[in-house]
This record gives sequence, C-alpha cells and structure tokens, in this order.
Amino acid sequence: MQREQIETLRRDTPGCSERLHFNNAGASLMPRPVIAAVIEHLELEARIGGYEAAEVQRERIEAVYASAARLIGCEPSEVALLENATRAWDAVFYAIKFAPGDRILTSRAEYCSNYMALLQVSRATGAEIVVIGDDGHGQIDLEELEDTVDERVALISLTHVPTSGGLVNPAEHVGQIAREAGSLFLLDACQSVGQLPIDVRSIGCDFLTTTGRKFLRGPRGTGFLYVDSRRIAELHPPFVEVGSGAWTATNGYTLKHDAKRFETWEASYALQLGLGRAVDYALELGPCRIWERVRTLAEGLRVRLAALDGVSVHDLGITRCGIVTFTTRDIDAPSLVAKLRDHAVNVDFSSIEDSRLDFEARRLKQMVRASLHYFNTEDEVERFCQLVERASRASHNRAGHG
Ligand SMILES: Cc1ncc(COP(=O)(O)O)c(C=O)c1O
Repeated sequence: MQREQIETLRRDTPGCSERLHFNNAGASLMPRPVIAAVIEHLELEARIGGYEAAEVQRERIEAVYASAARLIGCEPSEVALLENATRAWDAVFYAIKFAPGDRILTSRAEYCSNYMALLQVSRATGAEIVVIGDDGHGQIDLEELEDTVDERVALISLTHVPTSGGLVNPAEHVGQIAREAGSLFLLDACQSVGQLPIDVRSIGCDFLTTTGRKFLRGPRGTGFLYVDSRRIAELHPPFVEVGSGAWTATNGYTLKHDAKRFETWEASYALQLGLGRAVDYALELGPCRIWERVRTLAEGLRVRLAALDGVSVHDLGITRCGIVTFTTRDIDAPSLVAKLRDHAVNVDFSSIEDSRLDFEARRLKQMVRASLHYFNTEDEVERFCQLVERASRASHNRAGHG
C-alpha cells in the first residue's frame, strides 16, 4: 500500500486522530462507511419501525451473506450470521454428537473459551481431548498430528491465529490431514479473517468461525460461521427456534436447509449491515494487500522491540502475523499497558487464562499484546517503541538500577 492510500484510509478512520491504536486483535477501529451503515439503519428503524426497516433493507441484509462468502471462498448458503465468534463456534461444536472413546484433537494455541467447551463436552460424553504439541517453530506439530489421527478422531479443532501471539498455524496442512483421516475440522479464524487471505476450500475445513470487530474492522456484537454444505444436513443445531426452522406441526418442526439453521431469529440488522460493509471494505482493499502490509509493519515492530534493552519478543511460528507479543524486564505487562494508555496508546495484555496450554508450556504469565493493522504507520511503530523504552528505563531507574 502506498503512503497516500494509508493517509486516505486513516482519514476514513476517526479513531486514528485520537489514539495510537495497536489493539486490533481486541477490537479494531471502525472506518466511516461501517459506522455510517450502522447508524443509517438505526435511524431507519427509529423512523419507520424495526420490522419495517428490516423489510426495506432485506436485499442489503441478504447481501451480507454474499460478501462474507466472497471473503472466505464459499457459498452464501454456507454462512450464518451470529453475534460473535464464540457463539458461531459453539453453534457447530455443540451440534456434533460425541460418544465415549471419541477423540478431539486440538493444539496449544486453542482459545480459552473453545478449550473450556472441550472440557465440558469431554466430561459430559466421555470423548477424550488430545493436545498435539508444537513443532520446533511453535506451530502445531504436523507429524505428531499425522501420527495421532485415526478412526477414533471425531474432530480436529484448531485456532488459526491465537489470541496471544503472532503465530499463524498451518491450517491448510491440518485440513489435508483431517480430510485424509475423514475427521471433522473446525477452524477458529477469529484473529485471521480480515488480516490474511482465507479460502475455506483450499483450507479444507468443515467449519470456520470468526468475529466482526477485530481485523475485519466491523462493529462489536457481530460474527459469522461457515458450514460446508455437505455437513449442514447432518448437524442438528444445539438450539432450535423459529430462526433455525419452522414449527410445522403440533408435535413437529423442520430445520432450514442452509447454514441459517444455526442462527437466531432476532438479530441486530444495524450491526449486520455494519459487518457487511466492513467485509466489503476489506474486499475492496484486497486481502493479499492487507496481509502484506500488516506482516511488514508487525515484523518491523518485532525487530525494533527486540533491539531494546530488557525487552523480549515472544511470537512463535514460521509465518507471523500482525500480533506482536513481548515482555519487558522492568515493568509487568498490565502496568506497561496502563502507562501507554496515559499516552493515548492502545495495547492490551494477554494472560495465562487466555491461552493456558501455550502459556503453561512456555512458562509465561503475561505478555503485552500489540496488534497492528494496515492503517497503522511506521511512525507509530517508532513512537510506540520510544514510549516502551522510556517507560522501561524510568522503571529500571526507580528500582535503583540507574
Ligand atoms: C482466537 C480467538 N478465538 C475466539 C475468540 C472469541 O471471539 P468473540 O469474542 O467474538 O466471541 C477470540 C477473542 O479474542 C480469539 O482471540
């Protein structure tokens, strides 16, 4: 991306004038067209009524499915809109019928809520959780995965990009192994959609889940689910209601034939339209160009941080993304995040509760998480590093080392 384009994109992002925003893995800054799409629909609802507004905007609401499908390379009928990535993930995970002796394979990067659900289902059904270790680069060990898959494996659950690090897990290789083993493959792409190009057919996943507010730059309270059309009919959603089907007889109901069987009837159409606009925005920019820019910026930040006295960068993997995690010798992560916030700099910290398998294996407790998007700049990287250096030095001196 050229400098002038970045400037234009920043002018399109009101938050850029107020903050140095390196918290895109938390919630990114919405661009103006996304904000406008949400507000316009809310205003329409206020003027003509909520049901009536949905009726008027029916085509645009349907177009959100087409946009999401285009972004990840599937059919609109394979997309369900939900209020976040967790509900999207739950909608298919809890639809799978596990039995005693089944195995669920996952990796160290698994997201906290996903792993908690695995624990719950494992206790309830007798299915066994097997955690595949990391290879020498810190990504899921493909050889170990290949050696472990057998007919007992009912599901491979993989977090593509963990909440707490720059790692990009090799989803396509995992998909290939899952296909050969005949196992279901659920990909948590919450941190990857919007940041890097995603094609569900080449990944070969049965299910993919993501959120709107992170690298897609959509509004909070949005997410979507992809379900391979060949899997839809065999999965009974965990919740049945008029959004997922119809009450067709006194003692009977039918389910929708598309991925909408995983949805709820009530939804925020304002937010969904905002999500659709965010997806279109990403498509207009081009996922490959976004990815190139994000990777370059983040790698620059890693190099610059690693050169600072007392700073350790912790990102794993062969391919690394826009999430940069680090610790400093002189200030703990929450205190550094708070100090940076005083300078209108947004970053977050990741704790062991976010990604316990990974943190335990690496004996980490907390890390600062700086997550960059394409609208961030090299100047912001520089300013950020200066602030980190200054805060670390001040803390070092206060501790009597100066
Ligand atoms: C890897 C990963 N998966 C899932 C989620 C949950 O997403 P949501 O908060 O939209 O439910 C997160 C949120 O941080 C995440 O980082």
